[in-house]
Amino acid sequence: MKTEILTSLLAAAFGHLADEIRRAAASGAEALHLDVMDAHFVPNLSFGPDVVALAASVAPDFYRNVHLMMTRPDLYLEPFARAGAQTIQIHVEADCDIHETLRRIRGMGLKGAIVLNPETPVERLVPYLGEIDEALVMTVHPGYGGQTFIADCLTKVTELRRQCPRLDIMVDGGVNAETAVLAAKAGANQFVAGSYLFGQRDMAAAVAVLRSGVMP
Ligand code: DX5
Ligand code: ZN
Repeated sequence: MKTEILTSLLAAAFGHLADEIRRAAASGAEALHLDVMDAHFVPNLSFGPDVVALAASVAPDFYRNVHLMMTRPDLYLEPFARAGAQTIQIHVEADCDIHETLRRIRGMGLKGAIVLNPETPVERLVPYLGEIDEALVMTVHPGYGGQTFIADCLTKVTELRRQCPRLDIMVDGGVNAETAVLAAKAGANQFVAGSYLFGQRDMAAAVAVLRSGVMP
């Protein structure tokens, strides 16, 4: 399985977003992670399809992984797909038909993923295992960047890896050079980092450090 580092744009300086997207694209990371928040599913608002479209125009070859922290992600699939989303991640706790929403995401030729909040048991994922391209195990309560990694969430990564040796398993929240190693040991192969990477003067060096700690 491929080890992937994703840079979370939520931690970028929004005053010069295009430059920040270019900086992430040049860092050696595999993808840009775009956190969409609706102020309902989580108590925060971030951005919508226009920022995904900006990323697509500024760095067309930099993969766009879109994390929808929305109560009704099913109502916004087409705008995000049109904007250039390549993977769409929906929460299993969302208020919509999850099977149908995954079917529509993949029907548009995109990858589909399910996200689990820290308090959501891994069993909730089981009905969808045949229908997803990756699973995202949150390692913070979604809504804000810069929070502390919840190591207890890694028991879910271990269990999921035991059940699904070939599945792409991502962790998101509080990931840095130390916590990424713990997540990799538990079985994760995709790592989202926001504040840790955007906070560095040399993002490429930090991506390399992160990668060296999580390579199998
Ligand atoms: C949290 C978001 C994360 C966040 C990670 O709600 O889903 O993607 O940006 O930020 P850091 O890496 O700063 O914890
Ligand atoms: Zn995220």
